Amino acid sequence: MNADTGGKAPRALVLGAAGQLGREVADELRRRDTEVLAADRARADLRDTEATAELAAEFKACAVYNCAAYTDVDGCESDLELAMEVNGHAPGRLAAALPSDCRLIQVSTDYVFDGRGRRPYRESDATAPQTAYGRSKLGAERGVLEAGGLVVRTSWVFGPEGRNFVSAIASRIGRGESLRVVSDQVGCPTYAPYLARALVDLDAAGASGIVHYCNTPATSWHGFAVAISEALGLNVPIAAISSSDLTRPAVRPAYSVLDTARFEALAHREAESWRPGLDAYLDRLRQGKAES
Ligand SMILES: NC(=O)c1ccc[n+]([C@@H]2O[C@H](COP(=O)([O-])OP(=O)(O)OC[C@H]3O[C@@H](n4cnc5c(N)ncnc54)[C@H](OP(=O)(O)O)[C@@H]3O)[C@@H](O)[C@H]2O)c1
Repeated sequence: MNADTGGKAPRALVLGAAGQLGREVADELRRRDTEVLAADRARADLRDTEATAELAAEFKACAVYNCAAYTDVDGCESDLELAMEVNGHAPGRLAAALPSDCRLIQVSTDYVFDGRGRRPYRESDATAPQTAYGRSKLGAERGVLEAGGLVVRTSWVFGPEGRNFVSAIASRIGRGESLRVVSDQVGCPTYAPYLARALVDLDAAGASGIVHYCNTPATSWHGFAVAISEALGLNVPIAAISSSDLTRPAVRPAYSVLDTARFEALAHREAESWRPGLDAYLDRLRQGKAES
């Protein structure tokens, strides 16, 4: 958000503001004295390019944070048309329709890669999405980049205001259910408030192109489930299973660790560990302030 605001507080439009990331981005911007228009789907449907671009222009936004997406990875396989419309075409169309002093910050995903990598994926690595969701998100990247927007890829997001892996595991442990979790998919959990901070930092730094951001260290879903159980102080047995033991419409990447060196150079800091984020999340869950 580098536009000259003439001494007035900068303004930003957040799309998908009722989602787990959108809420955190709006909060983070407000903490930085930015005036925020936090728009949920009812207020701004990403597919309605004209109305959304008009909303950004009327609000005099210097940046539009697109946290809106059709995020049901399995649902995207059966409703490709919706996936392509919301995730694939709408962000680029919107980026091109924004006023010249306002740019789109698009949140993208590790699913643009084929998951067969053996070292963390760099921004310049070849993409080869294996799912409808991944293909749709990759489509948006191209459109947003062409229009001068910023693309930030991330992975395994968990936020206090969302239904996610942490809330699912914590509630299953709470119900005393036995747990079987895949150990052959490796990636990086990412705490939504840290991601929100990274997005705002990257915009403030004037970053362009594609940037990877996720938390450390890499782990498997099984390793993450064990960490959740330990952080809850309940060392319940969790069976490690293989992806082939589960039948799901969309194939999950076996390896989706993102290399965050470019983020670190731009933000002048390391990407956070997810562990304190997990503790903060579970504290909120205990206080009844997070969704379970
Ligand atoms: N969650 C992850 O693990 C993960 C990993 C990598 C990247 N990402 C990306 O991170 C971003 C944020 O994801 P999230 O985890 O916050 O997902 P989320 O909690 O599902 O939030 C997405 C939001 O988008 C809204 N939305 C859906 N269709 C829309 C439309 N046509 N117009 C406007 N809003 C619409 C949804 O509203 P409704 O609920 O009303 O449909 C929801 O509030 C997405 O771009 C996602 O692809 C997520």
